Amino acid sequence: MKDGTNVMSETKTILRALAGETLPTPPIWMMRQAGRYLPEYRATRAQAGDFLSLCYNPELAAEVTLQPIRRYGFDAAILFADILLLPQALGADLWFVTGEGPRLSTVQSQADFDKLGPVEDIHDTLNPIYETVRILRRELPSKTTLIGFAGAPWTVATYMIAGRGTPDQGPAHALMQENPAVFDALMARITAGTIDYLAAQIDAGAEVVKIFDSWAGSLKGDAFRKYALEPAREITSALKARYPQIPVIGFPREAGESYIGFAKTTGVDCVALDNSVDADWAAKHVQVDGCVQGNLASRHMVTGGQDLVDETRAIVKAFSGGPHIFNLGHGITPDADPDNVQRMIDAVRGG
Ligand code: CP3
Repeated sequence: MKDGTNVMSETKTILRALAGETLPTPPIWMMRQAGRYLPEYRATRAQAGDFLSLCYNPELAAEVTLQPIRRYGFDAAILFADILLLPQALGADLWFVTGEGPRLSTVQSQADFDKLGPVEDIHDTLNPIYETVRILRRELPSKTTLIGFAGAPWTVATYMIAGRGTPDQGPAHALMQENPAVFDALMARITAGTIDYLAAQIDAGAEVVKIFDSWAGSLKGDAFRKYALEPAREITSALKARYPQIPVIGFPREAGESYIGFAKTTGVDCVALDNSVDADWAAKHVQVDGCVQGNLASRHMVTGGQDLVDETRAIVKAFSGGPHIFNLGHGITPDADPDNVQRMIDAVRGG
């Protein structure tokens, strides 16, 4: 029996795809759809001051979340925040260096770990984010799905250990080898924090949650099982126990062959594919287990032209036999041309 809420939600195409329905036209949204390629984002960000002030200002964070919805009519909005707010809420120092990226105080020893705060305290810092979610649920069009998110424990740990982004996640791999007790304690703290953070986003109104494991590709074999699959399974099962109706999207970026079986092992409802994955291969080996999301290369948003249209159509066609949410394979970049986003949407919706 379906209650009224479910009947309403079934008009939302993203939720239908996540429930396993094959739609004639895939719903579409874009990673980093609120971002620096949009002049209206740059204006609001200037008004907020720096990036973190924007994240923690519910009115302005809701405003930038809504901007790409107004401009393009995407089928989903993603909460405007960052995966590094959770480490900050756990007690790490966090700041952003313009043109370079994030910086954090590092966790490399038991003493560093002991300085972190308990999971119960994260909401003191993260309350403004839940307020952004509540504003968005009031202001979004009724057909637009609101996606909440967090970083996966491994990806978040790589930033907390190194104190910054790294090309090969070397410091995190080193800690895993040299001080597994601290590494495992950190992973456990982040995992528990992520469950509570996502649960609070759902309580505030997030209709779907996505777990970003941007650096999953640097984990191989046993390490992939232990630090990518297992945390994703633990987070998903904890959320499903409390919120069985809330779909979860997993994004083990650059997982390669390990995309096979990811949904089955972890329980996620949808697997987001990066653009190194061949769409025909993924239709056969990944989409057999349920919904997939992706996977146009972000560079087409810069380069445009017929290639953009051809590649978009090829991806839509490859995934047309099963549930699919159209997206990029990674976030749109600041040098993208906003007109190319419209061309992509037209190619998806107009054929
Ligand atoms: O997708 C969205 O529009 C929602 C908001 C969102 C942001 N970051 C906003 C943001 C999401 C979902 C993220 C996730 C995120 N943040 C990830 C995982 C996804 C991925 O890209 O791999 C990671 C690794 C981060 C950490 C992070 N945040 C980095 C490394 C940087 C610096 C790089 C950069 O693009 O400048 C950020 C900053 C950031 N997060 C920006 C935005 C819009 C740019 C900040 C600005 O306006 O100056």
